[in-house]
Amino acid sequence: MSQAAFPHLFSPITIGPLTLRNRIVSTGHETHLNDKGQIGDRMIAYHEARARGGAGLIMTEVALVHSSAVFVADPIRVDTDACIPGYARLAEVVHGHGTGLIAQLFHPGREMLASEDGTAPVSYSASATPNERFHVMPRPMTPEMIAEVIAAYGDAAVRMQKAGLDGVEIVASHGYLPAQFLNPQVNHREDDYGGSLDNRTRFIRDIAVDIRAKTGADFVIGLRLSGNELSHDGVDLEEMLCACDRIASDAVIDYFSVAAGSSATLAGSVHIAPPMFEEVGYTAPLGQAIRDRTGVTTIVTGRLNQPQDAEQVIASGQADLCGMTRAMICDPDMADKARSGRAEDIRACIGCNQACIGHFHDGYPISCIQNPVSGRELQFGAPALVSDKRRIMVVGGGPGGMKAAAAAAERGHEVALFERDAQLGGQARLAQLLPHRAEFGGIITNLTREMELAGVEVHKGIDVTENAIRTIAPDAVIVATGATPRWPDFEGRDEAHVVDAWQVLQGQANPGKSVVVADWRADWIGIGLAERLALNGHRVRLAVNGYMPGQTIQMYVRDASIGRLHELGVEMLPYVRLFGADGDSVYLQHLMSNEAVICEEVDTLVLCQGHTPSTAVEDLVRRMGLEHHLVGDCIAPRTAEEAVLEGLRAGRAV
Ligand SMILES: Cc1cc2nc3c(=O)[nH]c(=O)nc-3n(C[C@H](O)[C@H](O)[C@H](O)COP(=O)(O)OP(=O)(O)OC[C@H]3O[C@@H](n4cnc5c(N)ncnc54)[C@H](O)[C@@H]3O)c2cc1C
Ligand SMILES: Cc1cc2nc3c(=O)[nH]c(=O)nc-3n(C[C@H](O)[C@H](O)[C@H](O)COP(=O)(O)O)c2cc1C
Ligand code: SF4
Repeated sequence: MSQAAFPHLFSPITIGPLTLRNRIVSTGHETHLNDKGQIGDRMIAYHEARARGGAGLIMTEVALVHSSAVFVADPIRVDTDACIPGYARLAEVVHGHGTGLIAQLFHPGREMLASEDGTAPVSYSASATPNERFHVMPRPMTPEMIAEVIAAYGDAAVRMQKAGLDGVEIVASHGYLPAQFLNPQVNHREDDYGGSLDNRTRFIRDIAVDIRAKTGADFVIGLRLSGNELSHDGVDLEEMLCACDRIASDAVIDYFSVAAGSSATLAGSVHIAPPMFEEVGYTAPLGQAIRDRTGVTTIVTGRLNQPQDAEQVIASGQADLCGMTRAMICDPDMADKARSGRAEDIRACIGCNQACIGHFHDGYPISCIQNPVSGRELQFGAPALVSDKRRIMVVGGGPGGMKAAAAAAERGHEVALFERDAQLGGQARLAQLLPHRAEFGGIITNLTREMELAGVEVHKGIDVTENAIRTIAPDAVIVATGATPRWPDFEGRDEAHVVDAWQVLQGQANPGKSVVVADWRADWIGIGLAERLALNGHRVRLAVNGYMPGQTIQMYVRDASIGRLHELGVEMLPYVRLFGADGDSVYLQHLMSNEAVICEEVDTLVLCQGHTPSTAVEDLVRRMGLEHHLVGDCIAPRTAEEAVLEGLRAGRAV
């Protein structure tokens, strides 16, 4: 499949004064790659990779227009001229690859995650309406402050114009300040900015008019909004259509960028970066409704991770352009691969949210569990070809081993990978069996393709022993043998009916009607098994050694899972450790008081107690005195992200 296979996706489009080569957009996303609040080398390298890879348009991440807008510890600011040189360098680089560049202008209003020094900041909104998710009570903005903030958007737009960008985007999506003015449940003002639709859209319209007055006609002005905030007190599609209609009638906005959800609630925030359980392109009907109603150029974004799906959205008239943001975090060359007939080589995003938005929430630079080079462009660069070709043996065909093999072969080594099982994938094969996690298996498909392209020799069904290593006589061994379920010692282990998570997933256990899932890692496994067993009709109690189920995983994935567990009637017991079990009870201990918490009438105890590294091959190669490199869970059981990153490092090191 080539450009010809995606005729709509690869047709040029003009937005105001800007003509784009295709319809593929990297929508704004925080990267934590800024350099003391300014755009520096790391962020330029990051966006350059997407521009070089064929993106039609890039939006830079939310940037603060006003001092009252600081909402994270290290924000990018566009409220002084100090921002101009960084944006100018970025614009030159991105334009050099034929890609458009638009800056997001941002004020969070009451959506305050953090401050620069750890104190609780004062936040401002249309009215003093508390925020459910961040527990923030904002101050209502005075008319003078409203005027100052509106002017700040216009001044920031002028800076972007001076820096050579093609335009700006007002971020009115996800319940941020402009959306707070729109929402009658948040905005209770009785002045010109509250009440009627005309008044509630005035803040946005005044910002757009101020920007236009200060930048002129030759500058794109876009508006990002949530077609439906999908929250109990959010703006729904009908209300949003009326607002868009009114905003469009001023004829100042050049495009609408349509997403879904709201930062203000746990349920709404899931849609900021919709996880794999949301359907591909599920926001497209919202885009279509807004486009049909207003006739304004529309970008639609949400789980469009493959060109086939984006082509369909555009061909069917649901949108004019498609945001494919995580698609390009995961594979910056996605657009070029689709254009040049290499669509099957695209490393498709699997919507896991771990290293992109997961890193953001943890305060770390962006990356991708499947593409560790993402966000580390300066660190890794292009792979250097080797002059001395070596024979590399990789033991283990899980994510770590597969990445290591591909990375080593890509550099020109002769690489053979050996996997004990009949299929590749390691633990990822189990991960994809959990409810709503089937797409996780995409990591296996993608890495298998990476190995094929790099020319790795794959041997399945071979348990690597000393003999096998001697026969191959490798110059170096990469050990990626992973881990197996950990069975801790506890009282009554042999009396009770005890099984582990892998046995349940592999259909090798026969859990009774009433089960306790004892979850130590508080990750996907305990939460997923509880859901699986509840769906199968078991009574499930999920005992978590932590604050809550899914404590260690990305919050949108966790929150949605907890919602499903609640609906299924799973009893969740946080703050407990496994202590013991017998024929019909499981004994837990409260983490703080050490008091007993007893679960009675239990048929089966399901262990989700983490993993134990498989070190037999490591011990062997050490004894044989061979050069070896360790990768992934066999070093210490963690996640696919570390396995793939360490695989890349090992493949680059041999
Ligand atoms: C149910 C479940 C859900 C999970 N969900 C997630 C998730 O959502 N996100 C995430 O990031 N992580 C998840 N994980 C963890 C993740 O899958 C692992 O961290 C990751 O697979 C580790 O990769 P690895 O390559 O180091 O080891 P493994 O995936 O364990 O692969 C090791 C491979 O080595 C093979 N092997 C071992 N010894 C030999 C030998 N002597 N000869 C030949 N082959 C050998 C094994 O058969 C295995 O295939 C999950 C794990 C499980 C069990
Ligand atoms: C790491 C990360 C950070 C994000 N930050 C922003 C942001 O700064 N501004 C914004 O409008 N949306 C932000 N988003 C939402 C994305 O623009 C996009 O709507 C979302 O990733 C869904 O699109 P996708 O399925 O194509 O990835 C962010 C998403 C991610 C993954
Ligand atoms: S970390 Fe997961 S969700 Fe994020 S870009 Fe990579 S594959 Fe997609």
